[in-house]
Amino acid sequence: MDTSVITGDITEQRTGAVIVGLFQGAEGSEGAFGAVDRALDGALKVLMDDGEIKGKKGEFTLVHTLGRILPARVLVAGLGKQDTFDAERVRITSARALRYLRGKGIADVATVLLGSGSGGLGAGVSAQSVVEGAILGLYRFDKYKSANSESNEMESLTIVEQDRLTMVEIKEGIDLGRTLADAVNLCRDVSNEPANLMTPTQLSEVALDVAREGGLDIQVLERGDMADLGMGAILGVASGSAQPPKLIILRYWGDREDESNNLGLVGKGITFDSGGISIKGATNMGAMKGDMAGGGAVIAAMGIIAKMAPKINVTAIVPATENMPGGRAQRPGDIVTTMSGKTIEIDNTDAEGRLVLSDAITYARSLGIGRIVDVATLTGAISTALGKICSGVFGSDQALVDSVVEAGSDSGERYWQLPMFDGYRDQYKSDVADLKNTGGSPAGSITGAQIIGEFADGAAWVHLDIAGTSRADSTKGYIPKGATGISVRTLARLAQILAG
Ligand code: BES
Ligand code: ZN
Ligand code: ZN
Repeated sequence: MDTSVITGDITEQRTGAVIVGLFQGAEGSEGAFGAVDRALDGALKVLMDDGEIKGKKGEFTLVHTLGRILPARVLVAGLGKQDTFDAERVRITSARALRYLRGKGIADVATVLLGSGSGGLGAGVSAQSVVEGAILGLYRFDKYKSANSESNEMESLTIVEQDRLTMVEIKEGIDLGRTLADAVNLCRDVSNEPANLMTPTQLSEVALDVAREGGLDIQVLERGDMADLGMGAILGVASGSAQPPKLIILRYWGDREDESNNLGLVGKGITFDSGGISIKGATNMGAMKGDMAGGGAVIAAMGIIAKMAPKINVTAIVPATENMPGGRAQRPGDIVTTMSGKTIEIDNTDAEGRLVLSDAITYARSLGIGRIVDVATLTGAISTALGKICSGVFGSDQALVDSVVEAGSDSGERYWQLPMFDGYRDQYKSDVADLKNTGGSPAGSITGAQIIGEFADGAAWVHLDIAGTSRADSTKGYIPKGATGISVRTLARLAQILAG
């Protein structure tokens, strides 16, 4: 879809539809709504008087103009109450509006800057949110479906603004909205790809594309390299799979003068989690093709970071492997030695995320990285605790936790902090090794987090459990059914916040 901005009058656009917004309780004579109403000799006002248009949040009214003005249709989008209005509402409204119009077979749409003017958003923020919401909301994963005449594409979205002075700001907003949404959609793509096609090798190819495009350093460690580094935990998980594991490392240098000004993003890259020998049940096992959503998120976030160029060095590390039951697979009861030297008793081979993350975090520490955020579809228990409304956040450093939460709230992604206490350690004590890889079902997300934290080695460390939020069961707002691409925008924004 093309996105652009022009100066002009919304009532004079020759297009399939124009979108105008209306706040609940507004009189109806202001802004673009008022202008369109006047051009249609009060037709919108009649609908307001009839009670059909109220401006309620989520309300859409499609009016055919029947040749009275150049736009073939006007879509009036209710923006809800003005006091609760924000950029997130623009993203959601834009997503739903564009999907609705695409569903009607309309391919060219013009819109005003929703929420600027009386909504109080700046022109740049509004433009960003309109474009971000539109691209995110129109996302479909249909590349394996034969072409079908019913599924038309949206071809263009044009922002129409009267004020010439805001053009530069609007263009920058459009660019940023595109950059963010394209990256989220890349993460969605890799998570939606079936596991036979999105193998660790293929994931490393995606990272290579991101590196090429963004001018990032990339290194992909092979099984032998990992063996040389003593990464017994990753290799233990990989041992049951016929697919070679990869350790993907992407590096962005935004502050070469100060190497210690750094951030590590570590993403769980299990391209399929069968559970291994502790095999999962058949119900919904297919969703485990998305067990690399954390890895996809950090790779995609690096693409945004390369474009935004914050003054900070960022390293992404993705331990990528399948977790399969095979003749060479690790067994419950096995003991592996991690890169850190600590030994782990494998209590349950399905608790593999913490294993691959432990070696990846030790590797980050070996590079001198002092702030680490890991992102993982780690535990089913996080959905029991928090549902799908927010992701879990844990951390050894409250300032870093707060920065992540702030980055999330700037991006429309919610995180809720859970506690970590020494008392939980008893649950993952092992009789035969330094620790075991599970802590039983009570507080399963917390013990999972704490086991990872055992490898943070004094770094400021934050763990995001996205097992509940990485997939959606149905389309809502700008989140389509399937992979959500959660955390991509948070991580990119975090790099910006930490860069100051
Ligand atoms: N990948 C799963 C967690 C998961 C569950 C992600 C549902 C997305 C949706 C993870 O590797 C896993 O299997 N965790 C176990 C841990 C347990 C064995 C301690 C779990 O949550 O049951
Ligand atoms: Zn897993
Ligand atoms: Zn698992």
